[in-house]
Amino acid sequence: MNVNIGIDEKHRKSISDGLSHFLADTYLLYLMTHNFHWNVTGPHFRSLHQMFEEQYNEIWLAVDEIAERIRALGVKAPGTTAQFHKLATIKEETDIPAWDKMVKILVEGHEACARNARELFKVADAGGDDGTADLATIRMKSHEKTAWMLRSLIQ
Ligand SMILES: [Fe+2]
Repeated sequence: MNVNIGIDEKHRKSISDGLSHFLADTYLLYLMTHNFHWNVTGPHFRSLHQMFEEQYNEIWLAVDEIAERIRALGVKAPGTTAQFHKLATIKEETDIPAWDKMVKILVEGHEACARNARELFKVADAGGDDGTADLATIRMKSHEKTAWMLRSLIQ
């Protein structure tokens, strides 16, 4: 059945592409944060372990929102690690770094997601898609805030 929500097919396609890239980056950032929650060590173990948990829980909910926005636009959402690796712009950390390097990596991941959300907003706005623009704005603010909180730990 045709999707008749007032956004033409061309824009639904370009917006879904933007959302798919954003989903991949968000998913990899989720996984990296959970990995660091498990493997962090050092004098700040307790606070970092807990902080990373709060962050991966927040990102996990966003992953679902982003994927379901793609579906609402009538497009299939990517959902395999192979697709996420192909679509993502952030690089996955494969080592287990020291705690301060973990924080730096996560700051960069949140900054990348904030930049991507900003680009996604423009694509959504161009297509008259207020729903995706709203989601992009919410995610942008969340990534900017989390980047600030993490950055503050190593300044
Ligand atoms: Fe845990």
